[in-house]
Amino acid sequence: MSRAGRFGLLGAAMSVALAGCARIAPQTSLEPQGPIARQIDSLIDPVFVVAGVVFVLVQGLVVVAMFKFRDRGQAEPEQIHGSTKLEIAWTLVPALILLAIAVPTIKTIFDMARPAEAADVLKVKVIGHQFWWEYQYEESGVKSANELVFPAGRPVELTLESVDVIHSYWIPALNGKTDVIPGRVNRMTVIADEPAEFQGQCTEFCGTSHANMRNTARALSEDDFAEWLSNQQEDANTPAPDTGAAKGLEVFNGRGCAGCHAIAGVAEGNIGPNLTKFATRGTFAGSIFENNRSNLKAWLSDPQKAKPGNQMIIPGAPLSNEEIDQLIAYLETLN
Ligand code: CUA
Repeated sequence: MSRAGRFGLLGAAMSVALAGCARIAPQTSLEPQGPIARQIDSLIDPVFVVAGVVFVLVQGLVVVAMFKFRDRGQAEPEQIHGSTKLEIAWTLVPALILLAIAVPTIKTIFDMARPAEAADVLKVKVIGHQFWWEYQYEESGVKSANELVFPAGRPVELTLESVDVIHSYWIPALNGKTDVIPGRVNRMTVIADEPAEFQGQCTEFCGTSHANMRNTARALSEDDFAEWLSNQQEDANTPAPDTGAAKGLEVFNGRGCAGCHAIAGVAEGNIGPNLTKFATRGTFAGSIFENNRSNLKAWLSDPQKAKPGNQMIIPGAPLSNEEIDQLIAYLETLN
């Protein structure tokens, strides 16, 4: 291949690599939106600079050697073996570089591990399930699923537990990832600068639907959060008699939904997500579907088709279209 051809090929390969740089990347960890994530991010720049200098130096020398010493039929150069000075230099220099990088890194690791000390810290228990996240607000008794709702500007201490296998909790804009291990309690703190919505993802392979185990974190203003919390503490709304929603409640109890799902004042199942305030959530089923009528319909018609590998079992025959419409009418009243 000609030299121009080779450069052309290199250029094509590089543009393919650059096409991986997404403009809309909700799960990037390079745009921190809270002080903890910022502290982690601040480690990246100096390491990148050091790695960049090393890369240019090493590759530069390789290229120089390739051209300067290529075989032109000249006599073989003098053969030497070992150079104590060089051996010491290229052992010591990388060791010193790693040592310099280790100082801020280890300091950050210890900072991350320290529990939040602020008086106004909010404590939330996060429980990993195949394939969704449960949230328990310890002081208020609120139980929710898929969406972590919290006040912006305040530290939120998450205690991470799992009821089945190892998961890993990660909201890239707010903190690094932490494993969620059965029989063990891990901790992490998140703080968001401003009210905003963040995307997260389970990052430990936990079964067939691992890729569909996402989560949404919603930081609200103090007032909005107080309002959200007081609403979540109430029992579920009771549907007006003789409506589709009232029929939906009968379907919920009659078709076995109540065996797995809790609805405060109605049912106490504790296997699937608590649905008491289902309609206040923007997403469902591991936060992979927007909470709307057509997605609910697809989900309730054939959960395995909608989210392969998920653990929702509809006992007996599949739900009829009428039952699905009634259930959705009922779910829509749970606000
Ligand atoms: Cu949970 Cu992967």
